[in-house]
Amino acid sequence: MEVLIAIFFLLYLVSHCSCSRLREAAINLNTFNVMDYGAIGDGLTDDSQAFLKAWSMVCAMKNGAATLKVPPGKTFMLKPLQFSGPCSFSSVHFQLEGDVVAPKSTEAWKGQDSSKWIDFSNVDGLIIDGGGQIDGSGSVWWNSCKVKSCSRPTALSIHNCNNLQLTGTRHLNSARNHISINNSNHTHIFNVTITAPQDSPNTDGIDVSQSSYILIQRSTIATGDDCIAMNSGTSYVNITGITCGPGHGIRYKYIFIMEI
Ligand SMILES: *[C@@H]1O[C@H](CO)[C@@H](O)[C@H](O)[C@H]1NC(C)=O
Ligand SMILES: *[C@@H]1O[C@H](CO)[C@@H](O)[C@H](O)[C@H]1NC(C)=O
Ligand SMILES: *[C@@H]1O[C@H](CO)[C@@H](O)[C@H](O)[C@H]1NC(C)=O
Ligand SMILES: *[C@@H]1O[C@H](CO)[C@@H](O)[C@H](O)[C@H]1NC(C)=O
Repeated sequence: MEVLIAIFFLLYLVSHCSCSRLREAAINLNTFNVMDYGAIGDGLTDDSQAFLKAWSMVCAMKNGAATLKVPPGKTFMLKPLQFSGPCSFSSVHFQLEGDVVAPKSTEAWKGQDSSKWIDFSNVDGLIIDGGGQIDGSGSVWWNSCKVKSCSRPTALSIHNCNNLQLTGTRHLNSARNHISINNSNHTHIFNVTITAPQDSPNTDGIDVSQSSYILIQRSTIATGDDCIAMNSGTSYVNITGITCGPGHGIRYKYIFIMEI
């Protein structure tokens, strides 16, 4: 009898004490911090490979939404890079608490597609949040190619990512568009801040193309070009609560179907 009581007591203790710790451990198992994959975060060292290694772990996670964690209080320099899917689970979390910054020289794009910096493609259920900043180091481009038509990288390109949620991020000084959404339905962008100088060339805030069911809310966009531009193949767009300017406002370019 005493043994039985002791066993029950032990079971009680185990189930109560370790519950929250077990839950925490389970969360940690699904979280991949770029620091554990060799990132330095001094704003100068190229941290691209560390991000890609962490991404490959996150994208391969089968049994739940995994998190790629970019820790706060650090700045990570990233060369042009692609976060590609499809991923194994229906949702992926990119927790950007720290900041990322583009190379301070256009040389980093030698032999690369100069229309993009950070590129997400074929990732459904992508959630990007965390309050971190994406700094496109645009001035090196604005100064090195003065004509408006020259090819400059979009800071954050999203292609073929249905059910995207982008929130809480701060976007600074892209060389071209700050955020481009292409071929991605059910996109929800809210509480983002986008800032670039009034005279910076082609620095659109958010460009949308070939996408439907777009909700953009509660954001502040002050750039050198359009705040939000809607390009061909875009429909069912709802834009509310945007503080826009300086910039060229909210524009429809070559729209086929449009509903607000
Ligand atoms: C909006 O995002 C900022 C980070 O940029 C965050 O500090 C703030 O809490 C967010 N606001 C809401 C209402 O979520
Ligand atoms: C997005 O929705 C439109 C309209 O329903 C559809 O034609 C298109 O194939 C969808 N695109 C994707 C990437 O799912
Ligand atoms: C947008 O997506 C469509 C469909 O995949 C593709 O044909 C087009 O090249 C993309 N445009 C851009 C600017 O990426
Ligand atoms: C647009 O989004 C806002 C905020 O979610 C919502 O209140 C409003 O009803 C939406 N408008 C339409 C036409 O769906």
